[in-house]
Amino acid sequence: MGNSDDRAGKAELDVLLQTEQTFPPPPDFAASANAADPEIYARAAADPEAWWASWADQLAWITPYRQVLDWSEPPFARWFDGGTLNASVNCLDRHVGAGNGERVAYFWEGEDGSRRVITYGDLLDQTQRFANALRGLGIGKGDVVGIFMPMVPEAVVAMLACARIGAIHNVVFGGFSAGAVAERMEVSKAKALVTADATLRRGKPVAMKAEVDRTIAAANSIETIVVVDRCDTDPPMQPGRDHLWSELIAAADAFCEPEPMDSEDPLFILYTSGSTAKPKGIQHTTAGYLTGVTATHRLVFDLKADDVYWCAADIGWITGHSYIVYGPLANGAVSVLYEGAPNYPAEDRWWEIAARYGVTIFYTAPTAIRACMKWGVEQPRRHDLSTLRLLGSVGEPINPKAWLWYHAEIGGGRCPIVDTWWQTETGAIMIAPLPGLTTTKPGSATVPFPGVEAKILDSSGHEIGEGGGNLVLTKPWPAMARTLYGEPERFVSTYWERYGRDVYLVGDAARRDEDGYFWIVGRIDDVINVSGHRLSTMEIESAIVGHSGVAEAAVIGVPDELTGEAIFAFVTPVGGVVGDDDLSAAIERHVAAKIGKLARPKRIAFADDLPKTRSGKIIRRLLRDIAAGNELGDVTTLRDPDVVAQLQRQIAAPRSG
Ligand code: WTA
Repeated sequence: MGNSDDRAGKAELDVLLQTEQTFPPPPDFAASANAADPEIYARAAADPEAWWASWADQLAWITPYRQVLDWSEPPFARWFDGGTLNASVNCLDRHVGAGNGERVAYFWEGEDGSRRVITYGDLLDQTQRFANALRGLGIGKGDVVGIFMPMVPEAVVAMLACARIGAIHNVVFGGFSAGAVAERMEVSKAKALVTADATLRRGKPVAMKAEVDRTIAAANSIETIVVVDRCDTDPPMQPGRDHLWSELIAAADAFCEPEPMDSEDPLFILYTSGSTAKPKGIQHTTAGYLTGVTATHRLVFDLKADDVYWCAADIGWITGHSYIVYGPLANGAVSVLYEGAPNYPAEDRWWEIAARYGVTIFYTAPTAIRACMKWGVEQPRRHDLSTLRLLGSVGEPINPKAWLWYHAEIGGGRCPIVDTWWQTETGAIMIAPLPGLTTTKPGSATVPFPGVEAKILDSSGHEIGEGGGNLVLTKPWPAMARTLYGEPERFVSTYWERYGRDVYLVGDAARRDEDGYFWIVGRIDDVINVSGHRLSTMEIESAIVGHSGVAEAAVIGVPDELTGEAIFAFVTPVGGVVGDDDLSAAIERHVAAKIGKLARPKRIAFADDLPKTRSGKIIRRLLRDIAAGNELGDVTTLRDPDVVAQLQRQIAAPRSG
């Protein structure tokens, strides 16, 4: 006992000492880095408009823009006004036109081991055909098209086809429930939905189309459903409304004239969780967004012509939009696209893929790195990962222990790590190292990207030079969200009121150290970050309360070793607490159906009431203390002090089920 305690203590001390360690760019990396001149920061700060324009000028324009930035009515920025362009042309036609039609866009690997190599030429061909099919179905500029798909190349094609004809795509993560899809279609008034018959989950097809059918009646704006046959499951098809992807493509013309889009025309909306139960439709525009993802992808990932780049996120999140689709394609990157789970059929699946394609740049989330740590070093060590030269992290703060493991075991001690802080709202990476310039510190996203200005403010709006407070962005940037779809007032009140209309309130608390490095601490709103996925406590609470056996519910995030945060629900059953296992299971099923499996509570505690003030307000701080097993102070001022003891007994008891 004593010995193992000592060992544990020593291991912890090692980690603490190591985290004081800093990692300067390896000299050979720095020597050939895309961003090699430290003056880049000062130049961009002195004239951010010129800096961003230098990136916009690398895009293919149909008509040139007249003005770089119009910030006369903050927070509604206009970037590159007067210009027209098309995102699909920037991602496809210009590469094919430059003679790179044979260049690989994606090495696609299915969960079941199937493989496809998709060139830029293939992608352009498929995109034009599907764009024509959409036009044939009456979809045009400004229409919203939902996409609810597994990670198959058709998902990328569907996005680019929308971009080609000026339709606004609204991708819903494939792990969400069909109920969540229906809600997002309804609030965005989507006209069409592209989905698949089923998605593979650990070898088994899980129905998508049939699930969509069960819920979509509510989203009655949907006039057309296109179905990709992924799993050969013969899904139900409603004549007149439903069409098979393969049939549409076969019948479609090969050439599709791209729609000239104004710089500020919307490219897509993507729903994300906020402080209320209602998801926010983050709206991005064409030129600014493309400028932001092009610049950040090229510099933060140091992308070179011979790189094989792999972002292991899902297309359904902003990371997939910006760093699987638009950034890499705009830069002509060769990417890996993988459909399945990292541990299927075995825990070395990722490393097997990385070795097969000779991946040089790999980008994932801390929660996945921690899962890999758990599976053991044997897994990556079984494969030759010597082609890797750069690693990335995104989605949540990376704990130094995971950072150091990633660096040593995956990066072989030689690859810089770019910890990239950004959001659905920011569109592109905002705080991250430039790997040839920035000395990294494990756990810190380091410094703002050139042209970006971040500050830490206290509650009265004073800047904190060194210390903690609210993270804000104080200069507009091209990839910034322009509004919340259909809710401009909510856009203003959520992000642009706390400190004024020209200061973007991020929603994260952060600390700045003596070197000016930023350390993200966590959310300041009611958002829980589970495995890098943003979930709203209110949305989960409203799903739980939707179950007929539940009178009231409160949800908090608690620290979790693997997923960063986990969902803890406090529930008052209708008719008082009785045996609770059945109700627990029923609540979990209910939440999975309403939102998706990822929103299921990890733990549920039941009580006859929730801890409230005499005026009836739930005291969430107390819930956190109860969940953590902390000593509680005086609880006699509560409306019903007994419920606290009732809850504490459950926390102390070993978990059932
Ligand atoms: C968190 C994901 C620390 C943060 C791109 C942010 C991070 C939210 C990091 C956005 C990081 C993302 N370090 N925290 N490198 N990256 N976050 O919209 O709380 O899904 O506000 O965008 O994730 O999540 P979203």
